[in-house]
Amino acid sequence: MPRPSLDDLIGEAERRLSDAGIEAARGDAEQLAAHALGLPPHARPAPWTKLTEAEQARYTELVSRRAQRIPLGHLLCAATLGGVTVAVGPGVFVPRQHSELVLASGLDVLAGRENPLVVDLCTGSAAIALAVAHARPDATVHAVELDPNALEFARRNSAHQTSLGDTPITVHDADVTAPGLLAELAGTVDLVLANPPFVPESERLLPEYGVHHPKLAIFSGADGLHVIRHVVRLAAALLRPDGGLVVEHGHCHGQSVPDLLSTDAAFGAVSTHDYLDGRPLYTTANRTEAGAPERKEHAA
Ligand SMILES: C[S@@+](CC[C@H](N)C(=O)[O-])C[C@H]1O[C@@H](n2cnc3c(N)ncnc32)[C@H](O)[C@@H]1O
Repeated sequence: MPRPSLDDLIGEAERRLSDAGIEAARGDAEQLAAHALGLPPHARPAPWTKLTEAEQARYTELVSRRAQRIPLGHLLCAATLGGVTVAVGPGVFVPRQHSELVLASGLDVLAGRENPLVVDLCTGSAAIALAVAHARPDATVHAVELDPNALEFARRNSAHQTSLGDTPITVHDADVTAPGLLAELAGTVDLVLANPPFVPESERLLPEYGVHHPKLAIFSGADGLHVIRHVVRLAAALLRPDGGLVVEHGHCHGQSVPDLLSTDAAFGAVSTHDYLDGRPLYTTANRTEAGAPERKEHAA
């Protein structure tokens, strides 16, 4: 029997993934095929390519696992944000394309600021922190994470980016809800970024998030705001007057996060921004002078 072409195999995989309820079945089938062939995820080998037996077996296995709703990023073992590719796998959140907008908004805050000081809270794989360091080599970047699995990825990714020539970042093993965190930076930070867990505990999610991601990365108390409340308080303490906060919160909190920030005298210029689907994605705010902590000198 003649061996099927790559095009045939991708078509079959697309049907299988679509039957498993995966929306972007074609794209996933194509990226998994590239991975099975040892190519970067967005490479497109010729459709008439014949896979070796080993490659075909690898592809079949990857497609079966994706059909079990294992996140695509965990199967590809990598995700890209802001031109930086980070290693990911079971136990760490897979950075989402949505966060490109959060990153871009953070980089806008830094425009015109030299040697800025940046803190990425709830950093996971450190994708956002590393993307900032990549775009702004003059920045001093701190990243905070408390899950040991995520920390391992963050440290590995950080070492890898340094080996490629990016400015090293500092990864802190810490809980953003802990009082006095990063007190040595109080009142000096130009930008606080955060993509924290924000889903209410009772919410049902796609299995990729509800089953195959660590709960700590996704859920945040009954109303989904537990960690975000701490992120806001910590940002108020860390930011210098006119420093910027960019916090991702998804459509769950299109009203509650802007309300939280608008009623806090530490913040002004509160603005919520939508994703391409028209649903709220993240909120930005500027640190006002109100109750600003005494500034310490920041060594760049
Ligand atoms: C939605 S994931 C986002 C990860 C990363 N920022 C990204 O966009 O890929 C949230 C991360 O926050 C971490 N996290 C949850 N609670 C935390 C806390 N109290 N302190 C520090 N990190 C926390 C989780 O372990 C997880 O890695």
